[in-house]
This record gives sequence, C-alpha cells and structure tokens, in this order.
Amino acid sequence: MSPNAESKEIENIPGLEKVDPVKVEKYEKLTNPLKLNDETMLKIRKIFEDEMDLGLQVNPKGCLQMANTYIPQLPDGSEEGEYLALDLGGTNFRVLLLKLEHGKMADPIVKHFHVREDIRLGKGEAMFDFLASCIHQFLESNNMLSRKLPLGFTFSFPMYQKSLSCAHLVSWTKSFNCEGVVDQDVVKMLNDAIHRRGDLQVEVAAILNDTTGTLINGAYLDGTCSIGLILGTGSNACYLEKVERVKNWEGEKPSDIKEVIIDIEDGAFGDNGVIDFIKTEYDREVDNKSLLVNSFTFEKYFAGQYIGDIVRVILVKLAQEGIIFGGKLSTKLLTHQCFNASLLSSVEQDSIQMTTTNCRKICQDLDLEYDDEDIAILKHICYIVSDRAAKLVSITLASLLDRMDKPGLVTIAIDGSLYKHHPRLDALLKKYIAKFAPNRQFCLMLAEDGSGKGAGLTAAIAQRLRKSN
Ligand code: GLC
Repeated sequence: MSPNAESKEIENIPGLEKVDPVKVEKYEKLTNPLKLNDETMLKIRKIFEDEMDLGLQVNPKGCLQMANTYIPQLPDGSEEGEYLALDLGGTNFRVLLLKLEHGKMADPIVKHFHVREDIRLGKGEAMFDFLASCIHQFLESNNMLSRKLPLGFTFSFPMYQKSLSCAHLVSWTKSFNCEGVVDQDVVKMLNDAIHRRGDLQVEVAAILNDTTGTLINGAYLDGTCSIGLILGTGSNACYLEKVERVKNWEGEKPSDIKEVIIDIEDGAFGDNGVIDFIKTEYDREVDNKSLLVNSFTFEKYFAGQYIGDIVRVILVKLAQEGIIFGGKLSTKLLTHQCFNASLLSSVEQDSIQMTTTNCRKICQDLDLEYDDEDIAILKHICYIVSDRAAKLVSITLASLLDRMDKPGLVTIAIDGSLYKHHPRLDALLKKYIAKFAPNRQFCLMLAEDGSGKGAGLTAAIAQRLRKSN
C-alpha cells in the first residue's frame, strides 16, 4: 500500500457539516457514548492488564481465561511430513492436507463443508460424528483412507487445555451451542467419533485455537512474529508469555522452556462487568439479541458477528428520534442482523473514496427513504463504530507489546474477515497501537489461513516435542 493510500484511509473521515445543526446536536447527544477518550482508554488498559495477571494464576479468577496452549516452540524449519488439519469455528468446516518438506509448506489440498444450523445447535455427539464423516469424505476423495496421519485440530472456541492434545470446552460462542459438550474433552469426543466409524486411522496430535494457528503460521512466515490476532466473526488474541509468569500449568513445568503461547480469550473481556462503563444502550441491545447473552462482552463491541448490528440499532434509534430517514423505519431495518459487517465496510469504502454509491444502494435495499443528510449521518455512524473497534483492539495489542517487552520489531499476525474486508481498520489499528505503545516497533501482517496451515504446523511441532521427550 502506498503511503498516500494509507493516509487517505485515515484522513477521509466523514463529516456532518452539511447536516442541519439541530439534527447534529441531537445526533451527537445520542452517539457521544460511543466515543472513547484517552482517559477511558487508559482505564481500560489498566483493567485489561490486571485481568491478564489474574488469569495466569493457579485458580484463575477474573474474566480472561489466559488459556495455556502448552505450545512452547514456534516453527524452526525442521518440520517434515504430511498432516491433516481440521478447522472448526464457523458455519464453514474445513479439512486440509498439508505437506511439509524441510520446513516449507506446499499448497494444501482443502475441502469445505457447510455446518448446518441443526448441527451447530444440536447434540454434541452428532456434531462430532459429522466432523468424522467429513474427514472420511476428504480422505476417500483423495484415495488416502488407509493412511495413518497425525491431525491438528483448530477448534476456535474457549477451551481449558491440560496438554497439547487434551482440551475441555469452556463455553460455546459465535453461532454454536451444541448440547453435552461444555466441560467435556473435545479431543476425546472427536477421537470417539473417529473410532465409532471404525474406518479411519487418523489420530489427533494437537488441538489449538485459531489465534494460536495464526501466530504459528505468522512465525512460519516471519521470525519476528509473537502475537496472533483474529478479527473475524469473533475476536481473540494470543501471544508469547514468559513461562515463569504462567502459574496455570497441569503437570510438571518443563525446565528447559522460556516461553509458551497464551490464548487470552479476550472476547470475554468484561464478562464480569469490569468495563461496563463503556457499554452503551446499543451494545446492550445487540447483546440481548445475541445467541449467548451476557457473555463475550468485548467481542460484541466490534467483532464481525455484531459490528453491523450495532450500526443497525443506532440507525433504528435515530429514525425513532426523527433524526434520519424522515423518522420512518422499514421492516428490513428492524430485522436483527440485516445490516452486517460487509455493509459497514461498503459504507466506509464510500467515505474513503468520497462517493455515495454503496450507501445509496444499501438504503434502497433496506427500503429506507433517504436524502443527502441521511447518507452523511450513515457514513458518520459507520466511522465512529469502526473507530471505537480499532481503539479497543489497539489498546489490548499495545498492552501486549509492552508486556512482552521484546527488543526490536514485533510482528502481529492477523487473520479474519473483518480485518481483511474493512477498508480502514488496518490504518486505524496502526495509528492507535502507535499512540498507545509509543516506544514499540511493530508491524501488522495479514497471515491468512492460520486455522488451516497453523494446525498442520502445530501438529508437526507436537510430533517434534514428542520425539524430543
Ligand atoms: C471467539 C472464540 C475464540 C476465537 C475467536 C475468534 O471469541 O471464543 O476462541 O479465537 O472467537 O474466532
């Protein structure tokens, strides 16, 4: 990206100069709570840091799980062999075959499977049977049914791990809520489903979260990578923590390792009410309409599953107050999630390019009567919601950079649809991380498919660890 393009993304901030000042005054009153000043940001940072420390203790208290992944190594170029990878976290389940030769990865073979709602909300056992049947289809179509392959399982939900291949589900998030899985060992549930079929030879070598996969894949691409971030349907981050700070360790802590990857599960930051001072009436409404009310507070402020709906509930409020759309609502606008993250990105795209085409189309598709003032306000809302998202994510990343205290450059590997498609987020993140961690050198790197490639690499690391023990 050229430097000019980057500044355009930061500078073309939509204004309200052409909107009736009476409307602007009312609008600002209703949206001011979404703006976070420096004092509030520092307060959030302090709480985040305290919660991280709490989460690392033996009987973790607080809202951050700080899950120990038991991964003490990053790829070192010695990874070899063929691995299966599974990626479960959304409506699209993937099975991949990855080949590593002298640490280099060839293009994986991938197959996608849609996870229907009745599976996502049905019985746990049936869900794992579905995963095993997808593995079977994948191997059969690649003539590999008889192969005994180690498997890396990316399971993008909060889990409590006891080792690299034992993980209990803490709670479902996003669009999943299968019965009988919370508190169970999901590796065992998958292995049981594989054994129930009796026609598969695969064996789970490692389980990981998508942030961990992103960090591992990031480290494979760039040796300075120490943080993995997902900004997609959900959001979460992981980082390399000094082993002496990690008290939540099952079994004996190996004496020869210095760092371990910690999966923060910061989507749940604030579930204990500690940052309720930033919660607006719009956030409350989005939460109330979500699948798992009162949980995953932090990610509901900005992750892809929710960010569009925040805009929608603000639009509804403004229409009810007579500030936009001639005070009229439409059935579509009143429909939960009819305004998604990709619409927010299209509006932001219009703002950056100083056009209105996307905004007009969106208003028409939502059956809204609109004029130029409405478009200006719509653009402004999408900007302030995006700006708040970037500030909240940046404050956590800035804390991590300071906490890790690494000399020199630290690369942050990022994956996720929100980050990839939002036209301004990358620029805003860079701006705010630099502001909140002024003494750190960092760079943001899109590390696509950490959930797939990272799972294969982690299975390879797990094998290396096993051999060396
Ligand atoms: C949710 C999950 C978390 C995952 C994130 C991104 O927050 O709880 O485990 O990393 O979504 O997919």
